[in-house]
Amino acid sequence: MMKTQHWSASEYTRHAHFVSAMASEVLSLLDPQQGEEVLDLGCGDGELGTYIQDQGCSVIGIDASSSMVAAAKARGLTALQVDGHNMAFENQFDAVFSNAALHWLLQPESVIGGVHRALKTKGRFVAEMGGAGNIAALLSAMLAVFKANPDFGVFQNPWYFPSAEEYQALLKKAGFHVEKIELVSRPTPLASGLDKWLEIFADSIASQLSDEQKRLFFNGVKIKLKPALYSQQKGWVADYVRLRFKAIKL
Ligand code: BEZ
Repeated sequence: MMKTQHWSASEYTRHAHFVSAMASEVLSLLDPQQGEEVLDLGCGDGELGTYIQDQGCSVIGIDASSSMVAAAKARGLTALQVDGHNMAFENQFDAVFSNAALHWLLQPESVIGGVHRALKTKGRFVAEMGGAGNIAALLSAMLAVFKANPDFGVFQNPWYFPSAEEYQALLKKAGFHVEKIELVSRPTPLASGLDKWLEIFADSIASQLSDEQKRLFFNGVKIKLKPALYSQQKGWVADYVRLRFKAIKL
């Protein structure tokens, strides 16, 4: 069974600020309008949800993590602890927005179906997520270190990184018109380093390891990736690829 990913909102806010800082393109694509009802799916610590709220929208954030929901509420967002696979909203929102969350949800048809139900007719689903090829170097290094250490157990990939064609087909099947969908390479500087990235984002992978195994895992991944992802000038830069889209409920 897939291990659960645990989030610490305070660590996320401190070390993963790049997630919201690099969301300007998907926010432009959302183009929030005064008075709109918006659902922020996977709202995290609420930074982007409160930004959308500040544009005059009425926003509800949902997240599977209680720590993130508490942090989002502390920022002044209405936030609920909900698994994105099981949303129960109906014809309520002008827009569903999501940044860097959909790749954690491994049953995309359930998610897209729930988004479709949650939207009013002609409502829009605007999102950015990891797409095909996202963190390819990171993933292959993690996999190689697991292979070299059979005592680590089976490597379970907790992420879903679809191609534009695959996701477009799912959106169409659920009853959306896809206005725009693109896959964009976006190298992402990790100001807090690779150890912190692994600690925060690969928690579900590392949680099956002992402390000593975790140390070997982190070091092994760093050694493998240093030639490709580290430079003196830029520090660690992750090989992110974004899938960004806007789809309209028919
Ligand atoms: C991403 O935003 O692409 C991502 C973040 C953490 C783990 C995997 C992917």
